[in-house]
Amino acid sequence: MSLRIVVGTQWGDEGKGRVTDILAASADIVARFCGGDNAGHTVVTDKGIIKLHLVPVGIAHEHVTSYISRGVVVNPSVLLDEMESHRESGYEVNPTRLKISSRAHMVTPAHIALDAAQEQARGSKAIGTTLRGIGPAFVDRTSRKGLTIGILASPRKTEEALESHLIEKNEELRLKYGAPELDVASIVADYLSFSPRIAPFLVDDSDFIADVLAQKRTILAEGTQGMMLDLDHGSCPFVTSANTTAPAALVSLGLGPKEVESVIGVAKSFTSRVGEGPFPTELSGALALRLRGTGRNQWDEFGVTTGRARRVGWLDLEILRYAARVNGLDYLALTKLDILSGLEEIPVCVAYEINGEQIRGVPSEPLLLYQCKPVYKVLPGWSTDITGVRKPSDLPQNARRYVEFVEDQTKIPVMLATVGPHREQNVWFING
Ligand code: GDP
Ligand code: IMO
Ligand code: MG
Repeated sequence: MSLRIVVGTQWGDEGKGRVTDILAASADIVARFCGGDNAGHTVVTDKGIIKLHLVPVGIAHEHVTSYISRGVVVNPSVLLDEMESHRESGYEVNPTRLKISSRAHMVTPAHIALDAAQEQARGSKAIGTTLRGIGPAFVDRTSRKGLTIGILASPRKTEEALESHLIEKNEELRLKYGAPELDVASIVADYLSFSPRIAPFLVDDSDFIADVLAQKRTILAEGTQGMMLDLDHGSCPFVTSANTTAPAALVSLGLGPKEVESVIGVAKSFTSRVGEGPFPTELSGALALRLRGTGRNQWDEFGVTTGRARRVGWLDLEILRYAARVNGLDYLALTKLDILSGLEEIPVCVAYEINGEQIRGVPSEPLLLYQCKPVYKVLPGWSTDITGVRKPSDLPQNARRYVEFVEDQTKIPVMLATVGPHREQNVWFING
């Protein structure tokens, strides 16, 4: 068995789906291990653009089994809609090709209502969540009263567990937030209708992983969110409600560290983030517009899940060095290098200063990030279009220098740089 883990090194949307898609060519299983439908991965395949929220990108590869492991929180309604939309796009989605751990927890309409009520109650301190119910679902999981998706195999258990869950949440919605109550009977009826459609996909994950080990199959773990959205190591409270870093893959899959072959950190060639919170290298004005795009292209910086314009800024090497440490990165995949073409100069953050004093790395008190002023090294840009380049030697010298600077500063080799959203638009520096 070998396990390769793909993780985001910034604030999400680095291009993890796209990089996982490329690496999936040599994997037996592609597994989602964290997050829920807060994730949005846009990938261009031979059948066109595919937008994934819960289904692993393995679904776009005929030889791959896709697996949603127990650390993912699954909204069954969203999952069923997504499965249908992939079928309409020409992908086969069936219980042979997609497996769901029966121990994954469910997101319910009550979690979504609570997410909205809590964001509203935070007022000016709102996190800017995706409003997909992710936080409240993880709270229930941690407080040991969450609903596992395995109960959908039993209509009786579904009805009983969901009814008491909804009664409890209705009380919280009404008493704590003054929010309207949810209609218990209609939600129970919906979940009962999901039962026969989800049950065939459920697996006992202990059996599933035991077979993977016995058959020496390879797993490619598709990360969601990013280093700085990790509950423990990110810019708390402006983070998601779970761990998103490489160790989370091991916990979610039920494997030990000796199975890890490599960890690949995906870094956008600049930085983006959606939602609130500190962002030291953030840009505004014309430069921000230049990096973000106007929304006319599918790769422009607008959220896949919420449609929000992403905040953008220069590449931050302090964040990448931090991500390298926490994830134990072996390689970097540098995405969207093409977007930097045409810039005369490209500043890159190499250190932070607080009150004029250089500090050591990313502060462990996350809100100190608000006070961090980036120290920039300005690299020369390149003017030529690189979207057709496939070999490092064909890159303009300054684009190669940009990649080498990232390697030099992070001490992590760049495996590949991507120069466009299509599958073949890659420049490999190290064989994948
Ligand atoms: P993820 O959440 O980490 O999988 O990333 P997203 O899919 O949310 O955002 C990445 C966006 O960048 C998607 O729209 C991709 O199609 C696009 N993309 C990925 N790699 C490249 C690239 O090399 N160049 C360009 N122009 N777009 C890219
Ligand atoms: P992918 O996998 C970017 C952000 C939200 C918000 C914070 C908490 O596409 O990279 P949540 O709904 O999780 O409680 O929101 O986390 N967030 C993401 N930002 N990409 C994602 O996923 C994200 N998933 C959550 O915007 O700031
Ligand atoms: Mg995304």
